[in-house]
Amino acid sequence: MKQILMIEVSPRGRDSASRAVADTLAARLVDLYPSAKLVRRDIATECLPHLDGTTLRAISTKDPDEAARLQEAVRLSDTLTDELLASDLLVIATPMWNFGIPSALKAWIDLVIRPGRTFQYAEGGVFGLAKHKRAILVLASGGVFTDGPWQSWDYVEPYLRQILGFIGVTDVQTVRAQGMNIPALAPDAVSKAQDAVAELVL
Ligand SMILES: Cc1cc2nc3c(=O)[nH]c(=O)nc-3n(C[C@H](O)[C@H](O)[C@H](O)COP(=O)(O)O)c2cc1C
Repeated sequence: MKQILMIEVSPRGRDSASRAVADTLAARLVDLYPSAKLVRRDIATECLPHLDGTTLRAISTKDPDEAARLQEAVRLSDTLTDELLASDLLVIATPMWNFGIPSALKAWIDLVIRPGRTFQYAEGGVFGLAKHKRAILVLASGGVFTDGPWQSWDYVEPYLRQILGFIGVTDVQTVRAQGMNIPALAPDAVSKAQDAVAELVL
């Protein structure tokens, strides 16, 4: 294990359930892999930009002169993509917002899902290029989504598994702090998820 990348999304700092569980996971990973580089990218404070026309052009142009001219526009996307590709383990710690992922996480995804870098169109289909990596999703939600009437409202875990699979990351484990808005479940939700961190195959 050379590098572990943790993408942290919640803007709620010390009140954040996903960050509390991510901290427990980070401590376990540091214990297990003391020589690995742990990169914690806080995209709540970093405020990644949405893809604009110039960046899209810079990412997609085949003209070397234009690519050179637009180098600056693609720099952030390159940095984030290189960081992802250099990592053996990706951890995404995120809240559920409006049944999906926060737009900050979508902005990161839009900057790293790139043809020729993390996936490839080829005869016979699309192939992920971010292979030989594992991922762990640390998810926090107000409701319960592993079973019960709200299960089909979960657009977080199915989407993240789908998009990670698209780039070749298929070994994905999930830990959930769920029921954060349910008085009977909230008090124990974080500690249960922290206990579940001990069960992860790392
Ligand atoms: C803007 C916003 C939208 C939310 N939407 C949902 C939702 O759709 N479903 C749900 O179960 N919880 C929802 N919640 C509750 C959060 O998922 C819950 O508070 C969770 O603990 C947030 O993660 P964090 O503690 O790491 O910030 C929402 C919270 C906020 C602030």
